[in-house]
Amino acid sequence: MHNGQTSLFVNTLSGKHSERTPVWLMRQAGRYLPEYQQLRSQASSFLDLCLNTDMAVEATLQPIRRFNLDAAIIFADILLVPHALGKKLTFVEGEGPQLPPIQNAGELAALDWHAGVLSSVFNAITQVRKTLPPEMALIGFAGAPWTVACYMMSGHRRDGFSSALAAASEDDNEVLSGLMETLHWATLDYVLRQIEAGADVIQLFDSWAGLLHRDYFTQLVVNPTQRLVTAVKERYPHVPIIGFPREARRREYESYAQLTGVDAMGIDQNVNLAFARDVLQKEVVIQGNLDPGLLVKGGVIMRGGAENILAKLSASGSRHVFNLGHGIRPDTPPEHVAELVEYVRSWSGYDKTS
Ligand code: CP3
Repeated sequence: MHNGQTSLFVNTLSGKHSERTPVWLMRQAGRYLPEYQQLRSQASSFLDLCLNTDMAVEATLQPIRRFNLDAAIIFADILLVPHALGKKLTFVEGEGPQLPPIQNAGELAALDWHAGVLSSVFNAITQVRKTLPPEMALIGFAGAPWTVACYMMSGHRRDGFSSALAAASEDDNEVLSGLMETLHWATLDYVLRQIEAGADVIQLFDSWAGLLHRDYFTQLVVNPTQRLVTAVKERYPHVPIIGFPREARRREYESYAQLTGVDAMGIDQNVNLAFARDVLQKEVVIQGNLDPGLLVKGGVIMRGGAENILAKLSASGSRHVFNLGHGIRPDTPPEHVAELVEYVRSWSGYDKTS
């Protein structure tokens, strides 16, 4: 369970006033860190790395040792849920994750959720929570049902998830709707167990939300997220939830902020900052949205990008978490991350009158 302390990060997500903007970075653990590469080379596969408690703890803590971050995120993957539903997950070098695709009702019916397959993840969460100082939050996460369904129906992203998208555009595709139902229950159980193990905050990654047009967005992103958020909040009303409907259009971001019940929303680097401030930030706390490419470049261009975001989203205080618009790229120099984190922490542009 929780450490009972409130961190700056949790306070900000809960809408309480905070004296500076918290910062963490998506994919803060990963290939841009030489110590991660070293750890990765000791594991027989990426899946083994995720499912080995000691290694997952180590990968989670690596960025925390180097940088002055406000939150750790448990080292895992959104595709562990299909894995625990019985779909064998492999990561092909240079091609990304692959699963046997679900093509018919029989394959759908064969899915069977075994949370015990992921017990190492829950153990890693408990161990990390014990190690972290109380002022540092631990983020648990899952893929949102639509994004996980994309991988499960198409098997990989090579064809742009064409079979998932074709199913989405049918009025009632039974395989997709059945899969969304299965994913609701599996994801709910997975998230509740992460909270019970010690996660302070939950992030729902809907990385492929932007593939959907308006009508389908409501049905496959907004409604399932709202259902999941409601069910988690019934059990744990005080655990903040961050939703990230990546690459959604303006109206879709707006309806997500208004209707899902998330405490905070991640925005990608293409979201206009005035729109984020004037429309989205009125509804929810905003997390984002530096272009990961600027973190690769570093220096004055990176600081300029960060300053612009802080001036727009943090100036009035309290409703902004600094992050990227997507994950850290593998070609990012770690020194740039250190510089960015210090820049955000020492930023002092708050309007003291508000
Ligand atoms: O943020 C963190 O530091 C925590 C760990 C984390 C990983 N994946 C580790 C990982 C998180 C939060 C994720 C989320 C995730 N995984 C998403 C949602 C966020 C996003 O990127 O849109 C998605 C879509 C996945 C699925 C996934 N896992 C893909 C598409 C890939 C391959 C692409 C790539 O970057 O190579 C992975 C592999 C993966 N997940 C790696 C890491 C560190 C790289 C694997 C390796 O070391 O070989």
